[in-house]
Amino acid sequence: MSKFSFLFFCLIITVVSFGGIVNGHGGSKVGIYELKRGDFTVKLTNFGARIMSVVLPDRNGKPADVVLGYDSIKEYLNDTSSFGAIVGRVANRIGGAQFTLNGIHYKLDANDGNNTLHGGRLGFNKVTWNVKKHVKYGPTPFIVLSYDSFDGEEGFPGNLSVTVTYALLHPYKLGVIMKAKALNKATPVNLAAHSYWNLGGHNSGDILSDEVQFFASRYTVVDSHLIPTGKIAPVKGTPFDFLKHHKVGSRITELSATLGYDLNYALDGYEKKDNKVMKLAAMVYSNKTGIGMKISTSAPGMQFYTANHVKNVKGKGGYVYQPHSAYCFETQGFPDAVNHPNFPSTIVNPGQVYTHFLLHEFVTKI
Ligand SMILES: *[C@@H]1O[C@H](CO)[C@@H](O)[C@H](O)[C@H]1NC(C)=O
Ligand SMILES: *[C@@H]1O[C@H](CO)[C@@H](O)[C@H](O)[C@H]1NC(C)=O
Ligand SMILES: *[C@@H]1O[C@H](CO)[C@@H](O)[C@H](O)[C@H]1NC(C)=O
Ligand SMILES: *[C@@H]1O[C@H](CO)[C@@H](O)[C@H](O)[C@H]1NC(C)=O
Repeated sequence: MSKFSFLFFCLIITVVSFGGIVNGHGGSKVGIYELKRGDFTVKLTNFGARIMSVVLPDRNGKPADVVLGYDSIKEYLNDTSSFGAIVGRVANRIGGAQFTLNGIHYKLDANDGNNTLHGGRLGFNKVTWNVKKHVKYGPTPFIVLSYDSFDGEEGFPGNLSVTVTYALLHPYKLGVIMKAKALNKATPVNLAAHSYWNLGGHNSGDILSDEVQFFASRYTVVDSHLIPTGKIAPVKGTPFDFLKHHKVGSRITELSATLGYDLNYALDGYEKKDNKVMKLAAMVYSNKTGIGMKISTSAPGMQFYTANHVKNVKGKGGYVYQPHSAYCFETQGFPDAVNHPNFPSTIVNPGQVYTHFLLHEFVTKI
């Protein structure tokens, strides 16, 4: 299956690089779509359901683009960092690229050493989504993208019908709703929005002087391959403690093994069973622009990643992105949950619908 998928991916690249019209699994053309509400603009592509830019005024009223990305679709086809994408079927890592569910052993595509990362080589970030509905202007501009994931795709069981909705809400709010319905087999599902934020502006250099605060007293402990050991430990006394706001760079040099932050926070209150309740997850502020962002989610966890492996990546306007040029707040289920019964379950049974709400609220401080 993954061989077929890889060929298909090559075909997409070939078609695009010859400047033709691209058709994905679903038949939608790969394109660029905009959502616009006054001076708040979000640009997306249905290739990987990706956010390409988020533009809003800084403290001086000057437009700032606060996510990393590329100017053209062609460059997105080459991307290895999941810039702005929806990642899945299972975001983050699955140890040993395998799991057992209802007595059946599943082998996945190992694309990160011996592990699976972000759904495999041809995850949801690398497929073409259907554009179901697009309303560019109005009080609530929105776009609905869908993807029909098939039984055996990258090794995962069962057909899965996925939709993501991006919507602009007043004023300077960006909502994301991720949904997935298992059609015929039980399967793990863990979708995450993988934007690389830099509230100082995508071309403003590193984010080390920006302030973050996380509403998470614990994190999931990992081994040297970033696979969870199963332990959920307090952040107290570690460089992971952002219960009070601190500069991102205040203790980052202590994390030399991972070249920066790359861990999953267990958000406070995650044990509550109601998966529709929104929790405040993070607050971020850049004094370069005066732009702040508040993130709330219905997901139990949040991977915090400081773009440690982004190196010499030529992005928008030819600006070259380097390590620590962005932060990702990937709200999601816990990594490798399918192999850890003590983690909140990510299993969706046939007929059930997985739902993940994510809200970004922006403010500008004078
Ligand atoms: C994609 O990557 C290849 C190999 O690194 C490079 O030669 C090519 O120019 C890239 N294409 C684009 C559009 O960036
Ligand atoms: C993958 O697993 C094999 C066998 O256990 C081991 O020899 C190898 O070092 C592992 N590779 C990585 C990148 O961890
Ligand atoms: C699953 O998807 C395949 C196409 O990928 C389709 O032929 C089949 O009818 C689907 N089955 C169900 C139960 O949705
Ligand atoms: C924040 O930025 C403002 C305006 O550029 C500047 O006057 C102020 O000194 C900065 N504050 C800090 C703590 O860097």
